[in-house]
Amino acid sequence: MKSGLAATAAAFAVLSLTTATVGAEAKATLKDWPKIVSPVANDPAMEKRIAEIVAGMTLEQKVGQMTQAEIRSVTPGQVRKYYIGSILNGGGAWPEMNRHASVADWARLSAQFYEASMETDMKTPVPVIWGTDAVHGHNNVFGAVLYPHNIGLGAARDPQLVGDIARQTAAAARATGITWVFAPTLAVVQNPRWGRTYESYSSDPALVREYARYYVRGLQGDLKGGTAAVATAKHFIGDGGTYNGKDQGENRYSRLDMINVHGQGYYGALEAGVQTVMASYNSWNDVAAGANHGKMHGANDMLTGVLKGKLGFDGLVVSDWNAIEQVPGCERAHCPQAINAGVDLFMVPDDWHEFIMATINDVKTGVVPMSRIDDAVTRILRVKMRSGLFENPPASSPLNGRSDGLNNDSARALARRAVSESLVLLKNNRALPLDSDRKILVVGKAAVGFASQLGGWSMTWQGTENAPEDFPNAEDFLTAARKAVGAVGKVDYSPDASNVDVRGYDAVVAVVGESPYAEMKGDVSFPASLQHTDRYPEALALLKAVSGKGVPVTTVLYSGRPVYANDLINLSDAFVAAWLPGTEASGITDVLIRQKAGSKSSTSSDFRGTLPFDWPLAACPQSGKKADYLPRGFGLTYAKPSAVHTLPVKPAPKGCVAPAE
Ligand code: BGC
Ligand code: BGC
Repeated sequence: MKSGLAATAAAFAVLSLTTATVGAEAKATLKDWPKIVSPVANDPAMEKRIAEIVAGMTLEQKVGQMTQAEIRSVTPGQVRKYYIGSILNGGGAWPEMNRHASVADWARLSAQFYEASMETDMKTPVPVIWGTDAVHGHNNVFGAVLYPHNIGLGAARDPQLVGDIARQTAAAARATGITWVFAPTLAVVQNPRWGRTYESYSSDPALVREYARYYVRGLQGDLKGGTAAVATAKHFIGDGGTYNGKDQGENRYSRLDMINVHGQGYYGALEAGVQTVMASYNSWNDVAAGANHGKMHGANDMLTGVLKGKLGFDGLVVSDWNAIEQVPGCERAHCPQAINAGVDLFMVPDDWHEFIMATINDVKTGVVPMSRIDDAVTRILRVKMRSGLFENPPASSPLNGRSDGLNNDSARALARRAVSESLVLLKNNRALPLDSDRKILVVGKAAVGFASQLGGWSMTWQGTENAPEDFPNAEDFLTAARKAVGAVGKVDYSPDASNVDVRGYDAVVAVVGESPYAEMKGDVSFPASLQHTDRYPEALALLKAVSGKGVPVTTVLYSGRPVYANDLINLSDAFVAAWLPGTEASGITDVLIRQKAGSKSSTSSDFRGTLPFDWPLAACPQSGKKADYLPRGFGLTYAKPSAVHTLPVKPAPKGCVAPAE
């Protein structure tokens, strides 16, 4: 028997030869940024109209248009008074800070903001546009269907599915009177330490590009219709490639890597006509070329030179939340560098008033040229006009105020299918599928409630501080399992497997997961390891309590990243990476539990997901070291069963050593 990592890789490798479906790689290597032709053509009549409106605007009105304020910090009256061009609701912001606000409440607030924007003293009133982080369904809104986070969709390798989810997400947004969505995230993540890994579809640039195309087409539709929403390609550029996976950190890849890896998603989004791009918090230091481009919000060469120039983007660039303060020399509400670099619309959530004052002054003193202001406003009006906002108020959507726009049978069925497709089977030594007429013991805290199942960007920003009542339409694993066995089988539950006799059951399903997290708080920073049980020792205790008793154990892991889990895999007869599946856990039981003949429940299907990222085979995997990972593309199925043998588990190191700075 071989020892160490080589044996681990070998245990899987035999299988990957026979069962893996490897995603298509980007074969051609680009030498320069490609010119992308948008399907949304420049319309001379529209451009003329925009030019006339801009020509009739005062400086105050123009700068107001360039400002995006947050609903917790701005009123409709202020939108009217200051000509504010855009509003957003941040993660965990709801109308009147009521987390259970209804669809009608959202639509009513939207109408108030819209009407205020149309009642200004501008020569031509310009409608306000509302943006939201609907990143896995309309996730801030009570009662919404939440789809798997992007990492799970990446596992599914199904672009059509992604397009359908985008279409449903647009409909949900329109039900609440919101016409702009801050998605898709097109990060091509290289290091799972990053806390936003789950917002990334894959480390495969070709897959990210294809998904970007389908997502933007699905969300934007014909752009003008009452069920369409404006999309945002984010975060430009290189967020998935920061050194050591540090959030908002420094990307040190070469120009060719930027073009061929991190840029690919933008090509897909632009090919589909995406109308907005969000700048990224990260910086880019092309060490190999000795070219430090600095923070992207201040990088004229990237925002203006590459994005608006070479790539041909004619929509608007929005800044990220308070991101301008990170540009050297800038403050939270004052950053002429970012305006001059090419940011058009400024997400200054709370300090919008200071931003307006400071920017007006910058124009008056010549720090920012009027031509740049006019260009920014032109782009903002272009997006508003193309998306039909001038003619059709948000309230004119046939879905406006309708709760069935947010949650309906077809959206739930779509989410459920997405969950099924996203599951990756890493081990199955004849434990799965489970028959529905058996006695099943479900263990693990993650089987009940929603925190681990939904992850971050769910009702709240970090996905924390939520209660089960916040997701009235959602189904957790235990509920789904009970439905799946119906009256023919039996499901018992114990959170920690104490006081139960495992031997009294035909099978055990252990559901373990991470506590939810999002940007800023989700990084696994050195010296922490990527071993799941280092952070969640209770998962190991749980599996030790149920395994080795002659009853097959299936582990379902909820996680926002690939993790090192050899210890848990060894204690399991079957192991399923379920990512962050969202509100429809029945998508898991559809695949795990086989319906006995005569039952009228849905038919069970096979696994089809494959790893969207390399999966760590070491607690401290080294970036780029092949032996430390099970490669992207791996995934078992029922159709081609094969056993996984005991994996080597090295004693957990005291800590991982960070690569030199
Ligand atoms: C995130 C963006 C998000 C924005 C608004 C930022 O902190 O990086 O992805 O769209 O906040 O919530
Ligand atoms: C907001 C988020 C935002 C984050 C960034 C939070 O308070 O609700 O939407 O992305 O701050 O710092």
